[in-house]
Amino acid sequence: MTELSATAERLFSGQIGAEYDMLDVICPAAAAMSDRVGEFVAALPPGPLNVAELGCGTGVTTRALLRRSGALITALDNEPAMLSQASDRLADFIDEGRVRLVEADALAGLAALPSGETSVVASAYTIHNFLEPYRLRVLAEIFRVLKPGGIFVNGDRYALDETARHTRLTQDEARHYFKTFAALNRYDLLEQWIIHLFSDESADHIMRLGPSLDAMRALGFDPVEVLFRDGVNALVSARKPAA
Ligand SMILES: C[S@@+](CC[C@H](N)C(=O)[O-])C[C@H]1O[C@@H](n2cnc3c(N)ncnc32)[C@H](O)[C@@H]1O
Repeated sequence: MTELSATAERLFSGQIGAEYDMLDVICPAAAAMSDRVGEFVAALPPGPLNVAELGCGTGVTTRALLRRSGALITALDNEPAMLSQASDRLADFIDEGRVRLVEADALAGLAALPSGETSVVASAYTIHNFLEPYRLRVLAEIFRVLKPGGIFVNGDRYALDETARHTRLTQDEARHYFKTFAALNRYDLLEQWIIHLFSDESADHIMRLGPSLDAMRALGFDPVEVLFRDGVNALVSARKPAA
């Protein structure tokens, strides 16, 4: 393991990854967010675009990104079980040369890219999984690889800055998991998703909106904007200023 990948975790190697499509049942907002990321990229000014996607998973967000005609996508993920599902979902686009799947953790994958040559870095529901120090290094790498004027777009779980309200939303979420998986008699998945929620909410992982926007601004991104917000789900864009 390289020093760069040392702090990347693998949270999707078990049953959650094997049955990732269950996310549609427990969090319908996730698929809608992938669409939002895709629509945002599709609406960027015309011209060729090379996109680095962080945490492509099973390829749901990648498919949404492919709506942008001519976009060439390098899709990174560090979980082989997720990449093999992406490989099936995106087979035609991989054959056409529009998508390249890369097994790498986000930090190591970005470190392999040259400075200032990427038009867009896109991601959905991945970056909140990172440990905080690792996430800050990823954000710095995103800034480095982007072209001047390039853009980072992230649709993700951003914890509310108002902690009491955030706790209530998390409790609602846990309640929803129990109802959904109990109705399906899937206590195995319930256990895995509750454990996952504990990881998201832990002090060393939790990604709060305000500090996240501040961290991007401190790196030099300008403007940094919240384009959509519904509970913990937010679409955030951050531009690397043109030279
Ligand atoms: C919740 S899934 C989201 C997948 C996809 N973007 C979507 O919206 O359906 C998160 C993905 O990020 C990947 N991931 C988590 N940590 C990672 C890291 N450090 N580097 C690369 N991929 C990572 C996981 O393997 C998983 O496939």
